[in-house]
Amino acid sequence: MPKHSYYSGLLFFCFFLFTNHGVLLVNSKSTIEPCSNSDSCNAMVGYTLYTDLKVSQVASLFQIDPISLLTANAIDISYPDVENHILPSKLFLKIPITCSCVDGIRKSVTTRYKTRPSDTLALIADNVYSGLVSADQIREANSVSDPSVLDVGQILTVPLPCTCFNSSDNNLPAVYLSYVVRPMDTLAGIAAGYSTTITDLMNVNAMGSQAIKAGDILAVPIPACASNFPRYSADFGLNVPNGSYAITASHCVQCSCGPGNLNLYCTPASLAVSCSSMQCRNSNLMLGNVTVQPSSAGCNVTSCTYGGFVNGTILTTLFTSLQPRCPGEHQFPPLTAPTALTVRDSMLAPSPAPSQSEGVGPTNPRSSVIPGTGFPGLAPANGPSGSISSAPLVNPISRFQSALLLLCLVISWWH
Ligand SMILES: *[C@@H]1O[C@H](CO)[C@@H](O)[C@H](O)[C@H]1NC(C)=O
Ligand SMILES: *[C@@H]1O[C@H](CO)[C@@H](O)[C@H](O)[C@H]1NC(C)=O
Ligand SMILES: *[C@@H]1O[C@H](CO)[C@@H](O)[C@H](O)[C@H]1NC(C)=O
Ligand SMILES: *[C@@H]1O[C@H](CO)[C@@H](O)[C@H](O)[C@H]1NC(C)=O
Ligand SMILES: *[C@@H]1O[C@H](CO)[C@@H](O)[C@H](O)[C@H]1NC(C)=O
Repeated sequence: MPKHSYYSGLLFFCFFLFTNHGVLLVNSKSTIEPCSNSDSCNAMVGYTLYTDLKVSQVASLFQIDPISLLTANAIDISYPDVENHILPSKLFLKIPITCSCVDGIRKSVTTRYKTRPSDTLALIADNVYSGLVSADQIREANSVSDPSVLDVGQILTVPLPCTCFNSSDNNLPAVYLSYVVRPMDTLAGIAAGYSTTITDLMNVNAMGSQAIKAGDILAVPIPACASNFPRYSADFGLNVPNGSYAITASHCVQCSCGPGNLNLYCTPASLAVSCSSMQCRNSNLMLGNVTVQPSSAGCNVTSCTYGGFVNGTILTTLFTSLQPRCPGEHQFPPLTAPTALTVRDSMLAPSPAPSQSEGVGPTNPRSSVIPGTGFPGLAPANGPSGSISSAPLVNPISRFQSALLLLCLVISWWH
């Protein structure tokens, strides 16, 4: 075959690659929730580590408290020096974020990223934030005019997907996880992995068919324990997903959900130091204490429960009820030691290995990423927030497509 026609064939192939929208250049879908009020909710994003990272490094990537990262994943926080524990590449974590309403759609914009040498928007989007955001979304959110020129140390807002859906699913309390579909995922597999149904996932995400593809972002409802704290409490609206913990009241109180029932259960946190009283008024019971008194009529159950964090004060309520049977000892969701976290998400296929570009390795987070401020699980991080434009929900060209593009470019230059 003469070289000329070989080249034309290639050109045709390249042309085909970039014009045939039905084959490769299909934009990924993401579930958008319109909103009108300024209420926010707690939500989660599913994050896959692109390299080995310390607990504190992952937390600072999302500007969250390392402790809330650990508790959301039921990792034992009493493990010595747990914040410096190194989590393995490809580990899947649920990252708790605050979901707000920006320009009429739900998203989280409290995450900031400080660029490092050799960062590109695509690298930040696909690798560092594991596809939770696209290069275009970062570009739009930060009005980057020339994406090929990123200043080192530039601070970028990273708009993350999230949904609230009234913190309920089928009228039961739920927290929504924004899940980035991986190449081998099926809707049935995701439904099974999160104890939900295909129908529910299709309803939540307004899907017309079961077809999903890598890069799509699905909202996955996770049953949760709802709180009923007063509106003026700092942790109003706290919802804790089944099987996990949350830390609140300035690190003083820890609330858990499941496994036996979906009633929020709060106790003094193990790292509580200078906290206001956690004792119920007119009793010697502490937060979480339950006393039982069998009587002829049944069981007299008295419990000291948490009622929210108001003006630096921990609210407690003493409840007494007569129940047919005495409750057994409270069961907590099982905790994982960080050392046991080497098992990667086995239910789902591993994502492609991140490229070994220099500059994205586990460098010192203090200098590369803005450290988290205060306790973002409860209060949104400060910083500018009015300058974010509504980003289109278009996902980046995948690494495979980028490689093909590069190949096509190289071949056309070579000729
Ligand atoms: C939101 O959920 C609450 C209970 O969780 C319910 O009372 C309320 O009607 C719901 N609102 C909407 C708009 O669905
Ligand atoms: C909560 O999680 C436990 C296991 O961790 C499970 O057995 C239980 O069915 C879950 N509850 C709900 C309502 O999904
Ligand atoms: C009450 O709770 C505290 C703190 O969780 C615990 O140390 C104590 O043993 C509990 N007392 C009773 C009577 O359950
Ligand atoms: C249940 O116990 C509480 C405290 O121990 C007591 O004040 C209350 O009178 C008891 N109620 C009944 C019905 O026994
Ligand atoms: C909290 O404190 C402020 C002033 O210190 C007061 O105005 C406000 O009413 C307090 N809120 C509650 C719920 O007690």
